[in-house]
Amino acid sequence: MSADVAVAAPPSGVRLAQLPPLALYVHIPWCVKKCPYCDFNSHQARGEVPEKAYVEALVSDLEQALPEVWGRRVGSVFFGGGTPSLFSAAAIETLIAAFRARLTLSPGCEITLEANPGTFEAEKFRGYRDAGVTRLSIGVQSFNPGQLQALGRIHDDGEARRAIEIAQQHFDNINLDLMYALPGQTPEEARADVESAIAAEVAHLSFYHLTIEPNTHFHRHPPALPDDDASAEMQDAIGAALEVAGYVHYETSAWARPDRECRHNLNYWRFGDYLGIGAGAHSKISFPDRITRSARWKQPKDYLERVREGRPLQESREIGREDLVFEFMMNALRLTEGFPVAMLAERTGLQIALAEKPLREAEAKGLIVRSHERIAPSALGRRFLNDLLQLFLPLRPS
Ligand SMILES: C[S@@+](CC[C@H](N)C(=O)[O-])C[C@H]1O[C@@H](n2cnc3c(N)ncnc32)[C@H](O)[C@@H]1O
Ligand code: SF4
Repeated sequence: MSADVAVAAPPSGVRLAQLPPLALYVHIPWCVKKCPYCDFNSHQARGEVPEKAYVEALVSDLEQALPEVWGRRVGSVFFGGGTPSLFSAAAIETLIAAFRARLTLSPGCEITLEANPGTFEAEKFRGYRDAGVTRLSIGVQSFNPGQLQALGRIHDDGEARRAIEIAQQHFDNINLDLMYALPGQTPEEARADVESAIAAEVAHLSFYHLTIEPNTHFHRHPPALPDDDASAEMQDAIGAALEVAGYVHYETSAWARPDRECRHNLNYWRFGDYLGIGAGAHSKISFPDRITRSARWKQPKDYLERVREGRPLQESREIGREDLVFEFMMNALRLTEGFPVAMLAERTGLQIALAEKPLREAEAKGLIVRSHERIAPSALGRRFLNDLLQLFLPLRPS
């Protein structure tokens, strides 16, 4: 590891009997235009994106990371962004072929690519499928033309519908990303959005509550947002309509047709491992005696340079024992089904008895339901997830 990587490595004393499943995340950091609400590591493309140089950097990045994951099988791949659909099908094909040559992808490996309706062409979608992409995640956000404008999107509702239609000619596994509690949105408008989403008949829908993130245009110039009561009404209306339409609410913001959950995201929520390559990508990798987190250089230009120098990591640290229970719960309690009790020990090396006090408190407050086999958030716990998670925060010496 190079000298300028910030390394904090308290010996955690973790012992894992087996390593968890592994996924691969690939970050593409450019967008046509930065949306005013977005704090992802995405940068407005000025002129041509350096596709060829970036593809080479990703392959080199992966090669440098291989010793961390030797011999492990990869269960899913996710091209996220930014806007991966800015890249040509040929670039995605080169990448998938490079992954197959260097890693063992599981049979039937789910390979998702995020697409923006403002960047699609029919040929491109076909090309992604031929390259090996099995699942498309389309950033629709809303079907309301006024909302799309207020969100600074580069597409209108017609383009969003057209993108979905074309995607459906090539993929049967499609997710739509939508948001609610949008500037000036009424519960009726949120209902209309969920009806349009249902009418699209896709396998998976994600509905995110719009959050105002620091370092965004919306943070500096806050729009008028629906109050908490109106947002809660929207959340209930969305959940009710999706349930009637046959979607299963399996995670805080995710609904799927039976058996069409996103396998890649399920792996995050089950505290699985992931290797993230690309600018600013995060990784969590377990070893028999430690669990590590790392992040790559965030600015695309720095990333390209550093990969060439053989130093893609900006930060790397071991997760301390005291943080493991919280980190595990922060993921696993997002799932409606919760987790099998044995999974905590399997994934963290810690015994469930260590979490007994907060678990009892959560149960007393009606925030979880538990048996000897399984622990899951209750309906109340799902609604007040932050209150539930707070109970697991590690106590730090003041
Ligand atoms: C990386 S973007 C996905 C694809 C593509 N970049 C696009 O926007 O079309 C992931 C998703 O996160 C959601 N998202 C982004 N910023 C958000 C925010 N501030 N609050 C809630 N959801 C947000 C959006 O629904 C977005 O589609
Ligand atoms: S929401 Fe998507 S398109 Fe908009 S800036 Fe973020 S990553 Fe880019």
